[in-house]
Amino acid sequence: MSSEALSTTPSFAVDAAREGSVTVAPMAGAARRVFIENFGCQMNDYDVERMVEVLRRNGFERTDEAEGADLIVINTCSIREKAEHKAASAAGRYKPLKDKNPALVVAIGGCVAQQEGDALLRKIPVADLTFGPDQIPRLAEHVRRINDPGSTAAATGSAPVSPRSTAIPNRYRLRLAKTEVTDVEDYAFLTADPRPGDVSVTALVTIQKGCDNYCAYCVVPNTRGCEVSRPAEEVRVEVERFIALGAREITLIGQNVNAYHAIGTPDGDDFAELLRRINDVPGLMRLRYTTSHPHYFSRKVADAFRDCDKLCPWLHLPVQAGSSSVLSRMAREYTREQYLEKIEYLRQVCPDISLSTDIIVGYPGETEQDFAQTLSLLETVRYDSIYSFAYSRRPGTPAIDLPDDVLADEKSRRLSTVLALQKTITAERLGRMVGRIEPILIEGFARMGTAQLCGRTAGNHTVNIRCEGHEPAALQSLIGQLVPVRITESKIHTLVGLLAS
Ligand code: 5AD
Ligand code: SF4
Repeated sequence: MSSEALSTTPSFAVDAAREGSVTVAPMAGAARRVFIENFGCQMNDYDVERMVEVLRRNGFERTDEAEGADLIVINTCSIREKAEHKAASAAGRYKPLKDKNPALVVAIGGCVAQQEGDALLRKIPVADLTFGPDQIPRLAEHVRRINDPGSTAAATGSAPVSPRSTAIPNRYRLRLAKTEVTDVEDYAFLTADPRPGDVSVTALVTIQKGCDNYCAYCVVPNTRGCEVSRPAEEVRVEVERFIALGAREITLIGQNVNAYHAIGTPDGDDFAELLRRINDVPGLMRLRYTTSHPHYFSRKVADAFRDCDKLCPWLHLPVQAGSSSVLSRMAREYTREQYLEKIEYLRQVCPDISLSTDIIVGYPGETEQDFAQTLSLLETVRYDSIYSFAYSRRPGTPAIDLPDDVLADEKSRRLSTVLALQKTITAERLGRMVGRIEPILIEGFARMGTAQLCGRTAGNHTVNIRCEGHEPAALQSLIGQLVPVRITESKIHTLVGLLAS
């Protein structure tokens, strides 16, 4: 539910969510500055890009300095533990700036804002606005209302107050909680509108929002709503736009990309069809996607690794646990055996594929034997990298009713055990690359002012490339190109290489 408050009393006036981006007349004068602090996943990275575009159309420019900003956005993620605490401490850091400049608007976006709404406003006094992901198209409008409460007073029938720019007293402060979720049938994807100079070699393109799965531990269906698949033509046009502006690698993103269903192919495997259509976009060098759900991951999608020449041999396929009984309590809809069968088929189709996964340790009821099965699954699959988490209860999730019966110390021990095992597997997997000459898509300089470029292998390993003896201008011209690189060394998570020509 959304609410808005003049003074400290919420009026609970609710706006109808509207489609598309709302552009309001920019404030007169120089561009205003927005500083964004972002937490979380690629979906949040994507959301930040859209926020910047919406705000830019409304007279804002992005700044890297919180000091002097007119608007600070903290974009939160509720997957990790203590997410709310992190949002509050980030907001607290900006309090001195707000004390100096009462016209500064502090906004909290993302999944925590969506879940907590006006409760978050009550807990974080410095915040003026909380808004969920579906409210991004209207972000400028909400900020404008905070800056100009007179217009809101008219809308809510309250007495007019002086404009914010004259430092209105706190008791007249307008505070908004905007958490309406747009209905599936009304949902319109914000079209990316990047400036040419802002497009890098790699770009994210969203193909769906929300998720219809109810994995028992997961807040995403609550925070991002039902799954909506983006029309395939819209996806293709956006990919073409990024390529025209200089992107060479596209990552298609969604919470469960394998459930994509906006084409209507006879066999129902729309995601495999989408991959084939995007693979054909002229100028595209590399294609990736994330995140996959093993239950929906079909043979046809696996076959795309063989059939689509741009599709990189890299897959993030979260398994979460190695024990079928834990998987069943997580409502993951696959067993250990079914997961391993899919991996086996993938490796037949694409023998050198790099795999990564997510692991949760200490899920309710996870016994020593269950945990041993997670370790043995890591040994069997041999992922190039993993992300591992200690289970933590999340409000509003089905698992909240299960007893959180693995003690914190035991969760930490299991987490350390997983990390130690994976360290040796990652070392072996990265080690296999040493001595090879790999095509690397050059993304930029490793560090400014150094003779080191950086890029990634097709398998998504980061490579820092030593280029001593090459002119900076010549190196600059390699950005955005696929360049042969001899891999000379593997480090803990990255590779080192030398330009091979
Ligand atoms: N506790 C621990 N880890 C979680 N994840 C999601 N929800 C939780 C939770 N409640 C992890 C899963 C997911 C990743 C993005 O975060 O492994 O795949
Ligand atoms: Fe969460 Fe499961 Fe949906 Fe992934 S598939 S976003 S883990 S509910």
